[in-house]
Amino acid sequence: MNTKSVKDLLKGELLLQEVTVNGWVKTFRSNRFIALNDGSTLSNIQCVVDFENFDQDILKQINTGAAIKVTGTLAESQGRGQSVEIQVKEILVHGGADPEVYPIQPKKHSLEFLREKAHLRVRTNTFSAVMRVRSALSFAIHQYFRENGFYYFHAPIITGSDAEGAGEMFRVTTLDDKNPKLTEEGTVDYKEDFFGKETNLTVSGQLEAEAYAMALGKVYTFGPTFRAENSNTSRHLAEFWMIEPEMAFYDLDANMDLAEDFIKSVLKYVLEHCAEDLEFLEKRLLDEEKTKPQAERSEMALLEKLKFVTENGFKRVSYTEAIDILRNSKPNKKKKFQYIIDEWGADLQSEHERYLVEKHFKCPVILFDYPAKIKAFYMRLNEDGKTVRAMDILFPGIGEIVGGSQREERLDVLKEKMAALDIPEEELWWYLDLRKFGTATHSGFGLGFERLVLFATGMGNIRDVIPFPRTPQNAEF
Ligand code: 4AD
Ligand code: MG
Repeated sequence: MNTKSVKDLLKGELLLQEVTVNGWVKTFRSNRFIALNDGSTLSNIQCVVDFENFDQDILKQINTGAAIKVTGTLAESQGRGQSVEIQVKEILVHGGADPEVYPIQPKKHSLEFLREKAHLRVRTNTFSAVMRVRSALSFAIHQYFRENGFYYFHAPIITGSDAEGAGEMFRVTTLDDKNPKLTEEGTVDYKEDFFGKETNLTVSGQLEAEAYAMALGKVYTFGPTFRAENSNTSRHLAEFWMIEPEMAFYDLDANMDLAEDFIKSVLKYVLEHCAEDLEFLEKRLLDEEKTKPQAERSEMALLEKLKFVTENGFKRVSYTEAIDILRNSKPNKKKKFQYIIDEWGADLQSEHERYLVEKHFKCPVILFDYPAKIKAFYMRLNEDGKTVRAMDILFPGIGEIVGGSQREERLDVLKEKMAALDIPEEELWWYLDLRKFGTATHSGFGLGFERLVLFATGMGNIRDVIPFPRTPQNAEF
């Protein structure tokens, strides 16, 4: 049987042959034209039925959302908008979709409405396009690292360490609900769990990746990470995917070079391989922008923006320089920043980051050499004793997309930093071992995958670029 995908059929190479295709009905108009889609591409194939001479019981079931198998002859299309169509001989209905109750009807649904239907929303053009781009980006990421001598390393999901020291962890316990062990105070005794110590879902695979980089040279993780932060923003998820390369013998400059080259390469890949989906998403975005006031519209369309980022250098600025720029800036004519930075050492708020990227430099920015106080314990202390070799990459419309650093490789300095932050050495004895045995300069970073997908697709909310978003309000599916 000549069963083909819609994508293959649209190439037009099988003209005048009998073909079979499976898919879902997008629309059925004028009792004659079925637009069929199977996910292989954004486009539908038009299937033409001779209504009067067709089995009416079957046609009654051809509603939007129905899964069908169509057999017929591939012919040149008379109509506009497509080059080929199927002249239908036979239809088999795999499963109908009652139009009275099927929610994804051929009309514009709001993203908010579709978020409530996370299991069905991928049947819309917008979400299928986003998810195809997401898949292509994942592939490009693995390909990039493979071509550049990295090993793919699987960091544990259940771990005893809090890599970021931010305390935003989901606790893992083997607690028997019906028979919980209690402490003397009557609270649940989590310490009595299977691992004999408190464990949590990983917030980052970095510390384990460091161990592997110190033998394999260059490794990367690409896996789910978890943050129990209760932030309801369009940039945060409780479960997100992170890419974390870790490289022995790389200093911060080499780390920044790699991060920039990596991001440009994977975006180039989607520009080359996802043109149809990106063009659709760009058009969708332009329609959405028309409803906004002129001042809020973005200056570049999606494809132009992606090309711009892949073709131009990211601006590298130290934290100290950035603070000077912010102090001397007027974000707009009347208003000042909501959070004024009047002290060196303060953490940047997202309004500052966005000002630097969108108003001042108008390109991606790599901020480096942050104050030690606002960064994690493992970052390498600079000679000034107050800044660390950290870097964050800030993207237009997104804010922070990458966080990374050169790691503290000196045992004595690392111990001092841990002591100052009350991190017990017993907890990270294995991490300290890495500094005792064959320690070396090394660096790495973490890229939030969903933030990259946000940028690549032009979508505005992180909940719309991951299949089943986990946020404080939504873990239903
Ligand atoms: O800046 P973060 O917290 O850095 C780390 O976890 C390091 N251990 C990474 C490393 O050096 N290997 O997180 C890295 C990136 C952020 O820049 C952001 O893109 C993303 O992960 N991220 C989130 N994405 C979605 N939802 C959240 N709650 C996120 N938190 C961080
Ligand atoms: Mg960060």
